[in-house]
Amino acid sequence: MTSPAPARDTSWPPPGTIIAPSLLAADFARLGDETADVAAAGADWLHLDIMDGHFVPNISFGPAVLKALRGRSGLPFDVHLMIAPADPYVAAFAEAGADHIIVHAEAGPHLHRSMQLIRSLGKRAGVALNPGTPAEAAASVLDLADLVLVMTVNPGFGGQAFLHDQLAKIARVRDMIGGRAIALEVDGGITPDTAHLAVQAGAGVLVAGTAVFAAPDRAAAIAAMRSPAACRASQGHA
Ligand code: DX5
Ligand code: ZN
Repeated sequence: MTSPAPARDTSWPPPGTIIAPSLLAADFARLGDETADVAAAGADWLHLDIMDGHFVPNISFGPAVLKALRGRSGLPFDVHLMIAPADPYVAAFAEAGADHIIVHAEAGPHLHRSMQLIRSLGKRAGVALNPGTPAEAAASVLDLADLVLVMTVNPGFGGQAFLHDQLAKIARVRDMIGGRAIALEVDGGITPDTAHLAVQAGAGVLVAGTAVFAAPDRAAAIAAMRSPAACRASQGHA
């Protein structure tokens, strides 16, 4: 298969609700095909979860896998680093083809430096917040941020239940962002049923692993999460 021409987003943050399938829930024996499949199903971005078995209790994949997939996909690559330290690996992910690089506020003492580093490499910089971390942990880097990612599960595994107690934090981050050009991303337990809660609270980007890759109809699942109100209406929940 040839790689399609990259269709890079030109406005930021992108309008509407962005759906970013998380490759963590894909068939790891067929990652290239899975990436192409969700692109054809309407994914806006591809979310790539990088886990080190240290910052989170799981190990996923590294820059070599990213690089291999880069040749197969024109989707923006949204790279979520759940690794500590992050800085020594940022350049490798940038070179491998990341478009956005997101580091956790809890991953080290120099979040501001990490954001500067990502920006210096010409990539969009993001800060992620664990469920136990207050919104204010991102406050001092907002002027360096292109994305803020609010975790709605404890990071490390797909398929966990959405933590409703994070909705207030999503709304708080939305207020903190104000008029800045920052995408507000939510990650963990997103389904057609929880998507509308995240969007109502202020999210513009929804990461979804299980709800996309395990769906019998991935295009329908993506469409339902992008238009949760329409989905709920069709289910009689309007
Ligand atoms: C969890 C990851 C998520 C995960 C989401 O640590 O950051 O991106 O893949 O999976 P679901 O959508 O199944 O909760
Ligand atoms: Zn993630």
